[in-house]
Amino acid sequence: MNYLQSGQALLTPNFYWGPYQTLCEEHERTLDTFRMFTEAGTLDVAALDAKLTEHLAKQGRALIFLNDPCNNPTGYSMTRGEWKQVVEVLLKHADKPVTLLVDMAYWLYAGDGDPRAFLAELVPLLGKTGLLFAWSGSKSYTHYGLRVGALLACVADDKDRNATQAALAYACRGTWSNCVRGGLVAVTKLLTDANLKNACDSERAKFKQLLQSRVKAFNAAATPKGLKYPRYEGGFFVTVFHPEAEAQAEKMKSKGVYVVPQKGALRVALCSASEADVPRLVDALAS
Ligand SMILES: Cc1ncc(COP(=O)(O)O)c(C=O)c1O
Repeated sequence: MNYLQSGQALLTPNFYWGPYQTLCEEHERTLDTFRMFTEAGTLDVAALDAKLTEHLAKQGRALIFLNDPCNNPTGYSMTRGEWKQVVEVLLKHADKPVTLLVDMAYWLYAGDGDPRAFLAELVPLLGKTGLLFAWSGSKSYTHYGLRVGALLACVADDKDRNATQAALAYACRGTWSNCVRGGLVAVTKLLTDANLKNACDSERAKFKQLLQSRVKAFNAAATPKGLKYPRYEGGFFVTVFHPEAEAQAEKMKSKGVYVVPQKGALRVALCSASEADVPRLVDALAS
């Protein structure tokens, strides 16, 4: 929130993790959205461009949150081509202070391939726009209770980097204080001790495999039933579009199937549904 002034708005897609709104409210900022998907189900980069233009005209600066890969709540992971287009849009506006925050909480749970690959597309932003990464130690290291995370700011100049660090440290102390020391020690060990790192990697790989089998089962059942949802290749959640989301969620509840209704859609947590339950879940969504 340090990248916006009081009363200014954060920009994020219209499907976003609810606490972004809370973060804004708690810091006297507001939240504004751009349409996430085109009719063809791809990232609506033109909508981002239009809103970014608006934000810069109105507030002279912009802060954009993109949660990728495995966006919560939609499950969508952007393609390399979409990242390239986003970067082109940001560079078009780089004469003004634009900052992109990539919320990469789920980056190690995306489908196949190198989870770092998309970073190559972001390189042209260095030195041109602000570039931040929100990283979750809890999710990356399957340690939910440890409350370890980090904001990585890409700042090339030593003086600017020190100033950024000082400003963020000050803001952290005034909000949630500091990371849990035990958690920091544990995550440091997992990063630096090869044996522990390998053990943790294989533990995470098993969880990811479990999740992937649910994702596969969901896609296999949902497509023939005609459910409408974004391309879903991995991640904890998926969002199924539904015109009567509230009513449908209530109907599903009466069958013992629980989903979270939002505007025009239902969030489904595959992370908490077993593979065996997926057909019942899909039937309830489709009925
Ligand atoms: C999109 C997104 N970002 C960030 C977080 C925060 O992750 P944590 O507090 O577990 O590190 C979550 C947690 O659910 C999330 O869904």
